[in-house]
Amino acid sequence: MSLVNGTEIFKAAREGHYAVGAFNTNNLEWTRAILAAGQETNTPILIQTSMGAAKYMGGYELCLNLVEQTVKAMNITVPVIMHLDHGNYEAAKECIEVGYNSVMFDGHDLPFAENLEKTKEIVALAHAKGISVEAEVGSIGGEEDGIVGAGELADVEEAKQLAAAGPDYLAVGIGNIHGVYPANWKGLSFERLEELASVIKIPLVLHGGSGIPKEQIIKAISMGISKVNVNTECQLVFAKATREYIEAGKDQQGKGFDPRKLFAPGTQAITDLVKDRIEWFGTPEVK
Ligand code: G3H
Ligand code: ZN
Repeated sequence: MSLVNGTEIFKAAREGHYAVGAFNTNNLEWTRAILAAGQETNTPILIQTSMGAAKYMGGYELCLNLVEQTVKAMNITVPVIMHLDHGNYEAAKECIEVGYNSVMFDGHDLPFAENLEKTKEIVALAHAKGISVEAEVGSIGGEEDGIVGAGELADVEEAKQLAAAGPDYLAVGIGNIHGVYPANWKGLSFERLEELASVIKIPLVLHGGSGIPKEQIIKAISMGISKVNVNTECQLVFAKATREYIEAGKDQQGKGFDPRKLFAPGTQAITDLVKDRIEWFGTPEVK
């Protein structure tokens, strides 16, 4: 199947009270692992590149071609959305130009009026080409220079204004944090999610999906979260499986050093994790 945009898929998720997972790719193995999970569960899947990962891999066009060609080579039949994760204004424009199916314009570090203005511009450019847009209100917490933020809460009024700018889905801060959650994390703010979901009817996006307890994710989805982003957990399971392979001395047995063997356990670990999360998110099978 060719790549598709995310508009109808996430709209259906919000209406159906389930979510579709969004998983970050870093290379060929990650791409194959994520696509395999979608295919094996017969569910739609979103694969995304951050600006940094795209730079590492050789640019947006290469990333898009990689995903397109891998979909073809693996005979993937489920809908696949190719998305830009946390793009700045220039990156969002470039991905629209190159032909991604969906872009996130993350203007959280801009003054709100500028975030709003630029979101409108990106929406107009993207929609003219049938590309979906994710916007972000406020900012997602995280660790910076050893200081751990508690996870910011999106301002409801700003969220309303940003949703009115026309994006197809909206990333909201509800106490979620990128990366590993600190032991003293207070959990998601369901109070703020309820306030947001009662006035914003487009699909809501939960970033920092790694490490949030299953019950909290399921509750958030029942309240309006329709896209859950997961990155760090894929990195952790890949590193763990690769470490175990090397610590067991398998890279030194026969041709165990061949990258096709060396990367296999980590790749399988990503597929297993993604399949597990698809089950958490309640993503229904494609009919
Ligand atoms: O945009 C990407 C996600 O928000 C991933 O967050 O690395 O904490 O899973 P995570
Ligand atoms: Zn994120």
